Amino acid sequence: MTVETIRRLSGTTLLVASHNPGKVREIRELLAPFGMEIVAAAELGLPEPEETGTTFVANAELKALAAARAAGMPALSDDSGFCVDALGGDPGVYSARWAGPGKDFGIAMAKVWEAVQASGSADRGARFACALSLAWPDGHTETVEGEVHGTVVWPPRGGRGFGYDPMFVPAGHDRTFGEVDSEWKHSVSHRADAFAKLVARCFDGGRDG
Ligand code: IMP
Repeated sequence: MTVETIRRLSGTTLLVASHNPGKVREIRELLAPFGMEIVAAAELGLPEPEETGTTFVANAELKALAAARAAGMPALSDDSGFCVDALGGDPGVYSARWAGPGKDFGIAMAKVWEAVQASGSADRGARFACALSLAWPDGHTETVEGEVHGTVVWPPRGGRGFGYDPMFVPAGHDRTFGEVDSEWKHSVSHRADAFAKLVARCFDGGRDG
């Protein structure tokens, strides 16, 4: 039996396998201390694979593997979403799809709020979840997950961030992710939580590995 060992990232260039400008910006910010050259999938003209998985991990891995194989270099992907307790975890892995072909998150947030009201539940709990996957062209992957818990608020507040940020307040705080700067968001976010785990596992300067 072969034991698969943890693989660390070597080299100075990393492909970010996402076509979502908000995610690419946040991943660039989180990677900044590592001095790597970052290339985004759109800059290489890579197609967006269909997200056929039913979990954040499955979708993160398929996106990272598709990009790593197409570009012949290590690729980092992010699959994330907004999981609302009153909706049994929806929109979840379908968070991007709730915004429709126009990627209009004003519409997506209104749909979430309508569904929460229609549910009849008084539960306003929600979380953002994120799976980050680092893949190599030979098919190896390293995948981690992060999350942040909080509550759904209405109406949306703040013009910062992206996606569902303006309708989410992290636990223990009173401002939405749409009202805070990205440095503050990274101090508690699902993406930063997952990123810290990936750094510890795969990056030089990580805590273990
Ligand atoms: P996907 O990972 O490409 O399926 O898209 C995830 C979707 O979840 C994004 O388009 C956003 O709508 C939402 N999402 C993920 N992370 C965040 C975040 O940090 N803030 C707000 N919305 C997010």
